[in-house]
Amino acid sequence: MMILMNDFKAEPPELREAMLTAAKRVIESGWYVLGNEVTVFEKQWAAACGVGYGVGVGNGMDAIEIALRALDIGPGDEVITTSMTAFATVLAILRAGATPVLADVDADSALLSLESALRCISAKTKAVLLVHLYGQVRVMTAWQVFCKKHDILLIEDCAQAHLAMWQGNVAGSMGEAGAYSFYPTKNLGAPGDAGMLVTHNASLAERAARLRNYGQSVRYHHPELGMNSRLDEIHAAMLAERMKWLAEFTNRRSKIAQAYREGITHAAVQQLAPPEEHAAHVYHLYVVTCMQRDALQDHLKSHQVQTLIHYPIPVHGQEPCRQIKRDPHGLIASERHAAQCLSLPCHPQMTDEDVGTVISAVNSFQAK
Ligand SMILES: Cc1ncc(COP(=O)(O)O)c(C=O)c1O
Repeated sequence: MMILMNDFKAEPPELREAMLTAAKRVIESGWYVLGNEVTVFEKQWAAACGVGYGVGVGNGMDAIEIALRALDIGPGDEVITTSMTAFATVLAILRAGATPVLADVDADSALLSLESALRCISAKTKAVLLVHLYGQVRVMTAWQVFCKKHDILLIEDCAQAHLAMWQGNVAGSMGEAGAYSFYPTKNLGAPGDAGMLVTHNASLAERAARLRNYGQSVRYHHPELGMNSRLDEIHAAMLAERMKWLAEFTNRRSKIAQAYREGITHAAVQQLAPPEEHAAHVYHLYVVTCMQRDALQDHLKSHQVQTLIHYPIPVHGQEPCRQIKRDPHGLIASERHAAQCLSLPCHPQMTDEDVGTVISAVNSFQAK
């Protein structure tokens, strides 16, 4: 049987039962959008992130757009981010009306490079949108210093880094706002689209809560133009149940990652740099690089191992983004990473046997 990138059907039956009970409770309540379940889950998630406020929204991309809009970042303003990310990161900046400026990544982590970001600073720069790619949180103190020095805001895209920690601080709590996605495949995922903006800033949270609901302050009063990006009760209720399993699931991901790091010894397969501390990586994805990436992917498929590529085309290679402003030195490390990266299965339902199969399959690759 194929070892899959995700296997929801193999989740514990108790979790399934708890989700069904939660769904039943919502259906019987007769209240479906922005109600008590959302409020409860917002409080729980904000507390887990170590911030005062959580604003439940429709998805992770909207959480970024709303964060930017709530911070008055829009037309004429530049936001520095990475080209090695989900398209949604950059699309959210464009949707907010701001100008993305793409900096390159560090080759050993595929995370935004400080040096490259420095070359992207201009008089119009208002924020850095830092993506905790694959679940990694790195050098946050340096980013905080960088943002302070240039008088710009730090916004965290935490879509892949649920509760990853840096020196005791949780992803989403280290800048002005954090944007979480609860898309089904994320470390904490709903059975549908969902997201949340988290922040220490009460007025930012209040504005975000307005923006997610047509810009409405009190019922039928619209002091500004917002969007429709509300969190559903049924998703909030099920997310609260799934959240109870998150620590255990993250722990399992970590164990699998450790086995890969030790077990994969193929000379043609490179690993990314290990996290600087244990909790600073929640292994949403376990990514290796290989010059013969496509051949490795075919080889793994023939050994019943599913893989994916995150991401085969950097954002600046996408048709509508070819002209996007970028580091004048180019985005070479991003392009190289896109050509060589491969994500191995790393989900909490994998058995030790599955992990062993993946390791053997990688190590038996005949590089040419
Ligand atoms: C890094 C990153 N940012 C943003 C998003 C957008 O989240 P969503 O799909 O919930 O809109 C995703 C998810 O695909 C992501 O991986």
